[in-house]
Amino acid sequence: MAANTAATAKKTETKTESGQKKADAKKNQQESLLEKLFIDMLKDMYWAEKHLATALNKMHSEATTPELQDAFEDHKYVTQKHASRLEKIFKMMGKEPEGKKCEAMEGLTNEANTLIKETTEGTMTRDAALIIAAQKIEHYEIASYGSLVQVAKTIDREDVARLLEKTLWEEEDADELLTEIAETYINPMADNESDDDEEDEEVEETTATSKEKK
Ligand SMILES: [Fe+2]
Ligand SMILES: [Fe+2]
Repeated sequence: MAANTAATAKKTETKTESGQKKADAKKNQQESLLEKLFIDMLKDMYWAEKHLATALNKMHSEATTPELQDAFEDHKYVTQKHASRLEKIFKMMGKEPEGKKCEAMEGLTNEANTLIKETTEGTMTRDAALIIAAQKIEHYEIASYGSLVQVAKTIDREDVARLLEKTLWEEEDADELLTEIAETYINPMADNESDDDEEDEEVEETTATSKEKK
């Protein structure tokens, strides 16, 4: 009886082993759903980075403080590098680089445009608004790349995870720099601006125009 039990246990074990082997083989041949999701996330970020590179041009031209202008200019080049890095990652994954519209990035850059319309040119309040908009964008990128790194590790692509991690750190650096610029002087200076300043500027402009006409 005991011998029979041992034989049955051995049979079950062999069955389980072959089942596992079959599952492993299937896994090697087929892309898992998580891998498919990962590729989809890469497409989303590829579109987002390219869209952001263009948006940063506008944010740069609408900023007043040289430090902020430089930060936007530098991050535009970093953003282009992120798009190229994603192209490399697509190739490493055996895919052609492809973008898929990222609704979140489109919404975030639309919000930046709205803030530009709602603030006055040349004010620190506009610079403060641009920093807020840019930090929301960076936080979105940080969340996205953080997730991509984790998924890359789960699907056993440490090589890809390492590259994505580089981008993640660069997004974190950009966010920290924006915080520093805002806290050092843009926000305190914006706090000294009021509607009266805008009205004074409008009066000055009207006076200058009427003098020119005379
Ligand atoms: Fe980026
Ligand atoms: Fe970024």
